[in-house]
Amino acid sequence: MSGLVYLNGEWLAPEEAKVSVFDRGFLFADGIYEVIPVYQGRPFLVEHHLARLHRSLAAINIPDQPEGFWQDLTNQLITRNQVTDGLIYFQVTRGAETKRSHLPQTVLTPTVFANVSPLQLHWDTPAPANVVLCEDIRWLRCDIKSISLLGNIMLKQFAEQRGAIEPLLHRDGSITEGASSNYFAVKDGVLYTAPADHLILPGITRMWVLQLAAQLNLPVREEAFTIRELAQLDELFLTSSSREIQPIAKIDDIIIGNGRCGPLTQKLVEAFHESKRAHLA
Ligand code: PDD
Repeated sequence: MSGLVYLNGEWLAPEEAKVSVFDRGFLFADGIYEVIPVYQGRPFLVEHHLARLHRSLAAINIPDQPEGFWQDLTNQLITRNQVTDGLIYFQVTRGAETKRSHLPQTVLTPTVFANVSPLQLHWDTPAPANVVLCEDIRWLRCDIKSISLLGNIMLKQFAEQRGAIEPLLHRDGSITEGASSNYFAVKDGVLYTAPADHLILPGITRMWVLQLAAQLNLPVREEAFTIRELAQLDELFLTSSSREIQPIAKIDDIIIGNGRCGPLTQKLVEAFHESKRAHLA
């Protein structure tokens, strides 16, 4: 699925899509992005993803597109590329001007880019994986889906070098999230996840898992787990649009539960699959 990409009103082959070196995305990482999963040609939880896109744009004062633009672009990406299962990527930067200045000197037109990449739709329970504990070195507005991802990349490099799928981040002793995922922990039958404040990205998958948990009458607390409590966890899993629910077996040398996918995690994986089936019906 190399497909056509969208850039500033044009549909282009990927290698033809070019952006100015003066684009503020290139010079300053001055922009935001959004990622939306598509299952069997239908975008999943699209209204929540687009609401977050609007919030990200508003948070950094980039003018939004006209009413209906993003929904239309979503549909066009899917139909023009005949997408069955995929991940839509939207990126908006503040635009380009030839003088490099932290504050724009002219009224700019935002740069809008969109493409789709393949996604493997799965119906199994992923094998439990390992994470490593890392200090959260990112900025203090992690609620904005900024394209400035240097901290996330450095943390992911650190995790990869240690054979882990994600760094599990902590700030002031509390677990915040992964570098591209949120987390849920289970202790004594209660599901915990960090509150959706400025220290985490409010994941759409996180929101969906909270709704599934409510439907299953599982007790939930939006409270961050602390580093000191990690050894007592019964279960741990990560959530993201590309991973859905990923059980975790180990944090550094701490084995979670018996190292297998725990019963609450399994219940939520099944509920998640069921909700995908309902979405496709
Ligand atoms: N990850 N936290 C961070 C820092 C992220 O970058 C992401 C998204 C999430 C999960 O958000 P969502 O459930 O809306 O995907 C949390 C990218 C998009 C991904 O791996 O899919």
